[in-house]
Amino acid sequence: MAVKPDLRALRDTLVADLVARDVLHDQRVADALTTVPRHLFLPGVPAAEAYADEAVVTRRDAEGTATSSSSQPAIMAIMLEQLDVRPGHRVLEIGAGTGYNAALLAHLVGPTGSVTTIDLQPDVTDAARDALVAAGYARVRVVCGDGALGVPDDAPYDRMIVTAGAWDLPPAWYEQLAVDGRLVVPLDLRGVMRSIAFEPVDAVGGNAGARWRWRSRSAHTCGFMPLRGLAAGPGRRLRIGAPEDAGISLSVDDEREVDVDVLGEALTAPPVEIATGLELTTPELVDGLFGWLALTEPDSCGMYAGAEAIERGPVELPVVYDGPSGPSAAMGSGLVADGSAALLARPRTDDRSTAAPLVVRGYGADGSALATRLVTAARAWDDAGRPGGERLRVEALPLPGGADDTGTYEGKHVVDKRSVRLLVSWPTTEVPGQ
Ligand SMILES: C[S@@+](CC[C@H](N)C(=O)[O-])C[C@H]1O[C@@H](n2cnc3c(N)ncnc32)[C@H](O)[C@@H]1O
Repeated sequence: MAVKPDLRALRDTLVADLVARDVLHDQRVADALTTVPRHLFLPGVPAAEAYADEAVVTRRDAEGTATSSSSQPAIMAIMLEQLDVRPGHRVLEIGAGTGYNAALLAHLVGPTGSVTTIDLQPDVTDAARDALVAAGYARVRVVCGDGALGVPDDAPYDRMIVTAGAWDLPPAWYEQLAVDGRLVVPLDLRGVMRSIAFEPVDAVGGNAGARWRWRSRSAHTCGFMPLRGLAAGPGRRLRIGAPEDAGISLSVDDEREVDVDVLGEALTAPPVEIATGLELTTPELVDGLFGWLALTEPDSCGMYAGAEAIERGPVELPVVYDGPSGPSAAMGSGLVADGSAALLARPRTDDRSTAAPLVVRGYGADGSALATRLVTAARAWDDAGRPGGERLRVEALPLPGGADDTGTYEGKHVVDKRSVRLLVSWPTTEVPGQ
């Protein structure tokens, strides 16, 4: 007879691992993770996998792209800590998925609070509702609809959390957040994603008034599947090379022209290589330089490779993620223009905190010029004190600018979305009130 796994022990091990890795600090979030049975939200998934610190994809579209998942517990814990949920709070989650995070939220708000969760896909909301009932959280309200519109009939919310990548901050979100509330959202900042905890400041006439401003309290690097529907952004993933070379793709956050055929050819020729003179750890690259390039360089791009493309080349990307049977995905960043590109490269290190020399490789007719520009940008990031990670500050204000929008944003990078203007900076000293 098969031995039944000790599910509570698996949860305890997961929590102990997150604490040991300095990911989880808040006892209330730890209690929620040890109490809520994640396996009930992942039917058919073996218990050991359900309690591993891994995202589990639960739905794919016809092309095989993931459309729903239970997110990796580490980023869920980070975002729940950012959200700072208290007993009695009214919470809205956008992206119900399996319902697991909604159950964690229900645990955190307790019997006096309320949780509403919304998802775009009816089969997903049906399954989430069933799992929530089975796990003892029938009081969570599960709504099927487009989360870009929020759920007005349960508003205002003390806390709102988005669990898919948002390109914009749609008006419904600030209209439905309490003036002393908090929103945690994985936000696309020109192709790099950061989980931002926003709080309203200066909301004259309430959040729905004409003049309001949100300020970030914390930021963490994250990766989420994008929101679809009304909130979808213009970002594109372009496949490079012939279908049989599938596995390399390029992401750009705008409508710029990229000749993927010419670029595919260019990537197979020997590149121009320039040393930057810098040595970087993986977090400095991912949390720091990638974000700096995205926000300071109009031609920035992201580059991704699947397991097969890592094995076969032609490009070697600087950040490699290991799966159970070797490298499973790699990512990088650089500049792209027409059919030319310049990409950051760095040898693999045994652990994330070992620094390794950074080089730049240029491909195609303008590869050399782009590579020189990329080296200059990397050195500028170094001269600025290698900004990244927790130092990132984001302010959001209505677009077009509100009454106090003077249009001069010294030292801040302006990123305009459909509904909001974002001001992004890396202040060297704490700004009062942040
Ligand atoms: C990473 S999953 C959410 C994980 C979930 N919180 C959990 O605990 O399992 C992202 C979800 O966002 C949903 N989604 C995508 N676009 C949406 C939209 N516009 N409104 C609501 N949900 C959306 C997807 O259907 C998917 O289920």
